[in-house]
Amino acid sequence: MKSKKLSQVYDPEKFKEFGHELVDLLSQHLEEANHEDTLVHQWKSPAERLEFWQQYELDKNSPKTFFQDILKGSVNIHHANYMGHQVSPPAPLGALASLMSSTLNNGMAIYEMGAAGTAIEKIVIDDLNKRIGYDINSSDGYITHGGTLANLTALLSARRAMVEADIWEEGNTEKLGIMVSSEAHYCVDRAVRIMGMGSAGMIKIPVGENYTMKTELLNEYYEKAKSEGIRVIAVVGSAPSTSTGMYDDLGAIADFCEDKKLWFHVDGAHGGAAIFSEKYKHYLKGIHKADSVVIDGHKMLMTPTIMTFLLFKDKNHSYATFSQKAQYLLSKTEEEQWYNIAIKSFECTKRMMSIQFYILLKFYGEEIFEEYVTTLYDLGKELASIISQRNDFELALEPDTNIVCFRYNPQGKTQDELNELNKRLRSDLLEQGKFYIVQTTLNGNVFMRTTIMNPKTTSKNFNLLLDEIEGLV
Ligand SMILES: Cc1ncc(COP(=O)(O)O)c(C=O)c1O
Repeated sequence: MKSKKLSQVYDPEKFKEFGHELVDLLSQHLEEANHEDTLVHQWKSPAERLEFWQQYELDKNSPKTFFQDILKGSVNIHHANYMGHQVSPPAPLGALASLMSSTLNNGMAIYEMGAAGTAIEKIVIDDLNKRIGYDINSSDGYITHGGTLANLTALLSARRAMVEADIWEEGNTEKLGIMVSSEAHYCVDRAVRIMGMGSAGMIKIPVGENYTMKTELLNEYYEKAKSEGIRVIAVVGSAPSTSTGMYDDLGAIADFCEDKKLWFHVDGAHGGAAIFSEKYKHYLKGIHKADSVVIDGHKMLMTPTIMTFLLFKDKNHSYATFSQKAQYLLSKTEEEQWYNIAIKSFECTKRMMSIQFYILLKFYGEEIFEEYVTTLYDLGKELASIISQRNDFELALEPDTNIVCFRYNPQGKTQDELNELNKRLRSDLLEQGKFYIVQTTLNGNVFMRTTIMNPKTTSKNFNLLLDEIEGLV
């Protein structure tokens, strides 16, 4: 290589040296996550952070200080006091597989560009499909970049399967609609609008006191849409919804879809992983009837961000979604080619994500996922019980999962005062850095929201969190 710089870039010895430095730092980071006095994150405002990185000078001999500064500026998801958004503390072995994926950079659009990852992807898809209760000879699926994209793709598949007209060629020729709980993740709303169905096509079914879809209203909303000239093509069940972590009654939605001949999609981005839990898989009763299911690996299956399983009961639907031809890549687009994933997926280039999950499955056995999901859901119930026993704290509702919402609610305050107080307390907590939790709005009121993602979190962390909140009052 003529260029000295380029040969430095690709020097295997330097890779080894820098890699060892990084792994040593990450290992220390994991170790420190267990120390009580370690902060979950060091809060700085966006403007301060921007200025820091704008003025950043790097030692040209080693990237070590850069690695250290990234660690200092990032939230520590492996910390037992991290109870924020639904992102798992990735299993370090999965993270190493992810490093492998980044280094090999096999694009995975076609088999030739990702042979190992493609074969492994089929194995893990079949494994999940079997757990869902699909026939693995007729079902299919693939791994895609996130629940948002997976939900959009599933709804595109639904439209392809349900509508006779060739929308791919002609655009929408009639008014279409999707029915979904008013508590569903916002990405479903986005998908509906991306698909050109507009506000009218996003039919939100109200929720009951437990924040799950009132399935007894499905028929009424369906008939109303029909009378307004909207053809409902699918119903989305949340398993669970994001804010409160409560599962819709999938069995009831399945029966309704069967009766009306609609596509049934399950957004199990968070809690589809309960298929691994003997104790909690009852929440997913009826999932085997779904036409499509989404399950995020980076939420409840301990993989690094980002990887999502998109599963189809009938493999023909998986192949039919995108009929656009890319002949230079795919020799026979119409033919079933499980090993050329770009035929089915939105993406062309795709990370080799399957290995992040497969290594955990093979190395630790599938019971590791059972343990993870069951432990976290159990912890959710434990936190709820602790909150219920504390004066001045109000549990929003008994949780199904590891998502627990509550607020500080001393006597004698108006709703407005409580909203202001809880917003302020959450913000102070964030700046102080000992805990990381988020907030949500339920029935117009502000609640603190925790998602227990770390199996090492215990009742001690829960009590310390509540003490800390009280201390900030
Ligand atoms: C129920 C649900 N669906 C979809 C998503 C979006 O998934 P992703 O963040 O992987 O795009 C989320 C994320 O929180 C979710 O909770």
